[in-house]
Amino acid sequence: MKVPAISNLILPGLLIAGAVQADSVDDLLAHFRGQGAGPFDAGSGQALWGRSFPSVEGPSRSCASCHTSDPTRRGRHVVTGKAIEPIAPSAHAKRLTDRRQIEKWLNRNCKWTLGRECTPQEKGDILSFLRDQ
Ligand code: HEC
Repeated sequence: MKVPAISNLILPGLLIAGAVQADSVDDLLAHFRGQGAGPFDAGSGQALWGRSFPSVEGPSRSCASCHTSDPTRRGRHVVTGKAIEPIAPSAHAKRLTDRRQIEKWLNRNCKWTLGRECTPQEKGDILSFLRDQ
């Protein structure tokens, strides 16, 4: 008797789940492409995630300062000390699902960390990195 490969049974479901989850990030990447950015590179996003930027107000800053270098782990806000749930979608199902939320925090956190807004290229690289974590 021929048994259907298990991947034939599981894959369609995974593809649908993936497509739904990817929506907000895909929308944003398309938006950044419309601003002249791309192609996006997860490796550059990861490098930017860990890069330290000097601050006149104190110790140098990076995304990892609050989120740790591993986005699948819980972070801690360096100023308030409050716990921050993991940013990685694999560790926290609601992450990167709400476009307005993503934009709001990218704007705020880039200004605090880099001392300026991130460029559309940088934002696209970071999202390309984070979405796979
Ligand atoms: C000073 C602390 C701090 C730093 C530094 C920081 N963040 Fe955050 N970030 C937060 C807080 C607080 C939130 C909102 C609370 C939450 O969602 O748990 C947040 C939320 C986010 C979110 C929202 C994700 C979602 O879908 O809910 C993204 C994306 C993000 N940060 C990316 C970054 C990036 C990229 C950097 C570096 C440029 C960065 N953060 C640096 C504190 C920080």
